[in-house]
Amino acid sequence: MKRLVLFSLALAAAASSIPAVAQFDKADDAVDYRQGAMAVQSHHFDMLFAMAKGRVPYDANVALSNAEVVAFVLKLPWTAFGPGMQGGKAKPDIWKEQAKFKQLSDDMMAAADNLVVAAKAGNLDALKAAVGKADKTCDSCHDSFRAK
Ligand code: HEC
Repeated sequence: MKRLVLFSLALAAAASSIPAVAQFDKADDAVDYRQGAMAVQSHHFDMLFAMAKGRVPYDANVALSNAEVVAFVLKLPWTAFGPGMQGGKAKPDIWKEQAKFKQLSDDMMAAADNLVVAAKAGNLDALKAAVGKADKTCDSCHDSFRAK
């Protein structure tokens, strides 16, 4: 039953901007999971960034497929910052300023969904604006909550 509930939540999460729920037995697993999700979305975000900067040619289809991966994968890491899951490069402040961290993760999911909207618009200017906004959102969270 619990599994079914989690599965339904995951499906709902896939279709909207709410974090997908995962559970972890120990902090190390949560650290691996969130670092993995961050690393994967980051590779796809880099593609969009390179296009926005003109380092790789703009291709609307490539932009859209990458934006969709970024938006989907960025729903994943947040539940891995749950109670007792300190570790990795996550600053302890995350667990002290949970409202701020949640706000930044919500902003991130919105900015990532906006990447998809911009990629669907099919023009480079829309993509540039959305990439710029998303990139600032990455930085604002890392500046506060990720150790160097
Ligand atoms: C709401 C906060 C937040 C946002 C937004 C965020 N990150 Fe992170 N990110 C973190 C934290 C915290 C860590 C450290 C996780 C750990 O080590 O446990 C991290 C780690 C990473 C890592 C290192 C993964 C590894 O293997 O160690 C990369 C790469 C990364 N983020 C890229 C990005 C990019 C690109 C964006 C924007 C598209 C982004 N992040 C948005 C909080 C955030």
